[in-house]
Amino acid sequence: MVAMQINLHQVTADYQAGPIRSPEILKSISTTVKSGSFTAVAGKTGSGKSSLLKLMNGLLVPVKGRVSIGEIMITSENAKQSVKEARQKVGMVFQFPESQLFAETVEKDIMFGPMNFGVPEAEAKQIALEVIKRVGLDASLLSKSPFSLSGGQKRYVAMAGILAMSPDILILDEPGAGLDPKGKKEVMDLLHAWHKERGLTTLLVTHDMDDVALYADEVIVMDGGRIVFQDNPERLFADMAAIHQWGLDLPQARKLQIRIEQEANVTLSQICLTLAQLADALIEAGLA
Ligand SMILES: Nc1ncnc2c1ncn2[C@@H]1O[C@H](COP(=O)(O)OP(=O)(O)OP(=O)(O)O)[C@@H](O)[C@H]1O
Ligand SMILES: [Mg+2]
Repeated sequence: MVAMQINLHQVTADYQAGPIRSPEILKSISTTVKSGSFTAVAGKTGSGKSSLLKLMNGLLVPVKGRVSIGEIMITSENAKQSVKEARQKVGMVFQFPESQLFAETVEKDIMFGPMNFGVPEAEAKQIALEVIKRVGLDASLLSKSPFSLSGGQKRYVAMAGILAMSPDILILDEPGAGLDPKGKKEVMDLLHAWHKERGLTTLLVTHDMDDVALYADEVIVMDGGRIVFQDNPERLFADMAAIHQWGLDLPQARKLQIRIEQEANVTLSQICLTLAQLADALIEAGLA
């Protein structure tokens, strides 16, 4: 496993369209994302979640401060070179990643990333075969046009293309957007399995607090372009006042726990994030 800590030091950033600069979007952000962690990023719409992730592969460059990704440091002065280096380490799955497909065949699409970073053609072909199987698609799809695939297949091909690059860091911006619950769970389970298998450092933007409960070992909450919370999910979901203030929801199991506690007039011994934890806590309290 590669050590890939991410560190932001007093990072300020905005968007620039020609001569026009947006107001400050990220306001002096400092944080460390631990190597190997699965960190969820939550917060209201417009709070700066996507912008935070864009800093990590150079889609957004700091105006002030610095972003470190392992040994690579991105600042406003060195952005051109450092962003290129960062892109080799950071794989990004956006909302609707299928919109990034472009090549004539699925195989060429998947091979493009590795070859762009110097992997020989024969080896890239081999990688394409491995990753298409890893995402659960049939190898016969490799010779098809990406545009002839179904929506779900396209999304898996896009994910295979990211996997083919062997990133050390995975940046996921609502990767399940627009899928039905079953499809979304399959995508999330696959991404979580890679995270574990490859010892990646993963950041996931999500509006779904059950994703936070199920997958994350750490949560960052953004509000108005600042990080207002960073700790484990149990601590976050214990604090109802904060949850309301930051416009968040609760995981299903935690909601149910609060209802049961009110109706039975008890307080369970732990903050329950999954139904399994809730069942255990109810048994322990003699309520089930
Ligand atoms: N390309 C852009 N140009 C100018 N302003 C932008 C651009 N992209 C985002 N912004 C602004 O930056 C702020 C943060 O946006 P960002 O996309 O990071 O929010 P978010 O937390 O990801 O929201 P959502 O949950 O809706 O995806 C918003 O005020 C938004 O209007
Ligand atoms: Mg966003």
